[in-house]
Amino acid sequence: MSLEQKIELVLNGRKTTLSIPVEMSALTLLRDVLELTGTKRGCDEGECGACTILVDGVSMNACLLFAVDCDGRAVTTIEGLSTVDGLSPLQRLFVEKWAVQCGFCTPGMILQGTYLLSRNKDMSVTDIERGIEGNLCRCTGYKKIVEAIREAAEER
Ligand code: FES
Ligand code: FES
Repeated sequence: MSLEQKIELVLNGRKTTLSIPVEMSALTLLRDVLELTGTKRGCDEGECGACTILVDGVSMNACLLFAVDCDGRAVTTIEGLSTVDGLSPLQRLFVEKWAVQCGFCTPGMILQGTYLLSRNKDMSVTDIERGIEGNLCRCTGYKKIVEAIREAAEER
């Protein structure tokens, strides 16, 4: 029988209290317990970035994070990025710029892009390429993704 721990976090703006097994990953908590399936499970070992989420505004791989380490923190998944006004500017630009193909990498890419935009005012193409190095995309060739993040930086 696994040991459980009570955690309290702010998930996509809502205070959430749960009792979870101590060994559970944040990815399993989000996808399998809370059914927030926008966070994707790719490699499950920190290599692909498909599971990228924001924890206190910092991008992290949910597959490498224990869910209990979300205690007392603010967690944002792709489901929490849009507002009552609609998609976030970066989400909108991903659509407009055709930066989405199969979509598997897209939630992680957008959250990583959101993190980069929150930290850097001016980003060159090289800065963006380096910033998304940990997020793999099998479809787009990255060009459109970089363009979308670059335009979001310019729009601000
Ligand atoms: S599923 Fe987490 S990095 Fe690939
Ligand atoms: S759009 Fe298919 S993996 Fe990126």
